[in-house]
Amino acid sequence: MPLMSGEVNRVLGGGIVPGSLVLLAGDPGIGKSTLLLQLAAEVAKEHSCVFYVTGEESVSQVKMRADRLGIDGQNLYILTQTNVEDTLARLDEHLPALAVIDSIQTMYDPSLSSHPGNVSQIRECARRLLEWGKANNVPLILTGHVTKGGDIAGPRVLEHMVDVSLYMEGDAVSSWRLLRGVKNRFGSTNEVGVLEMTGSGLLDVSDPSESFLLDRPKGAMGSVVVPVLEGNRALLVEIQALTAPSTIPTPRRVATGYDAHRLLLVCSVAMRTCGMPLADYDVIVNVTGGLKIAEPAADLGVALAIASSFRSVPMPGDFAAVGEVGLSGEIRRAPQTERRVKEAARLGFRKCLVPGNTDDRACGPEALHYQRVDTLAQAINMCLPITRRISEAVA
Ligand code: TYD
Ligand code: MG
Repeated sequence: MPLMSGEVNRVLGGGIVPGSLVLLAGDPGIGKSTLLLQLAAEVAKEHSCVFYVTGEESVSQVKMRADRLGIDGQNLYILTQTNVEDTLARLDEHLPALAVIDSIQTMYDPSLSSHPGNVSQIRECARRLLEWGKANNVPLILTGHVTKGGDIAGPRVLEHMVDVSLYMEGDAVSSWRLLRGVKNRFGSTNEVGVLEMTGSGLLDVSDPSESFLLDRPKGAMGSVVVPVLEGNRALLVEIQALTAPSTIPTPRRVATGYDAHRLLLVCSVAMRTCGMPLADYDVIVNVTGGLKIAEPAADLGVALAIASSFRSVPMPGDFAAVGEVGLSGEIRRAPQTERRVKEAARLGFRKCLVPGNTDDRACGPEALHYQRVDTLAQAINMCLPITRRISEAVA
């Protein structure tokens, strides 16, 4: 069953496979129920019966959400149920084209003495649903909450059982949502879909790089664009940094969306190999749009953003950077440089800083002027000449 949302299709590996068991995990409030209600409604347009089983909300709450999403609900049946046996009995009776179970943590099997949400309950309920789905060739989608600590006590125990496991990620303060495939028996796991939470549900983001950079002030101090890899995709994201004299004895290094240890590393390397006296400065780094960057390939961009803020020299607006910063100040190669540079060129970037040992083929399109750098000091001095500091510094 291919879906209208290209982004959801992408992570599912082309659509919903009959008889498959899909797990959608994510933080509470991230948008799982919203996405699945939209999905269920879409399937219900083509089929006479789709089930949305919820143990989380009342019928009126689901109805209110459906109204907000503009879903008329023909062929879409809401069942508020937490007993897995009763749920299966109803599924048996109606044989829907698709059933959503929101959430697996609220389901319980009355023959077990443990509480709903308990690992043995989650496993047993999922096992029974799986068995039923396979026997009747009906696809099932389960939601699971990620627990506070980040480990998914619930969903993770199901990963070996399900055919497809997806994670919905995002930041509470931003509207971007990433749908990440972590397991897929029918397609690549390296896929990431980008969606936006709007007033009327989740929408596909057709050009994520363009959307992520929409609010970017061009030529601002402390702002650098980095092409990062999310799954098989290169996405352009803006990294912002601010350095300010610290008011406390131990200056702060605060990172949002970037690894705190890598920030410490980048600051230390900048101090030791570039003579940047950050010891008395707070350093704040933010990846805009609420995205989280896990790869070291963003190091060079982070370092340049910090240096730009510290030297009060803006970076050129049509400039991107990619490379990992090593402990001795060397710029190390980033995987798939070619894909990243191409994405930057596509979005109209004219210059890209790349690691010194990047081969010519990787540098791709001619419209983009790439500049190889071997060390962080070289990169900083090239992009942010210190002689401009006095004339351009803000007093
Ligand atoms: P929800 O789907 O309930 O999250 P989950 O099931 O993962 O817990 O999403 C709830 C949030 O989404 C809530 O903060 C309201 C917001 N939202 C929108 O912004 N637009 C919408 O159209 C809908 C339905 C929800
Ligand atoms: Mg929910």
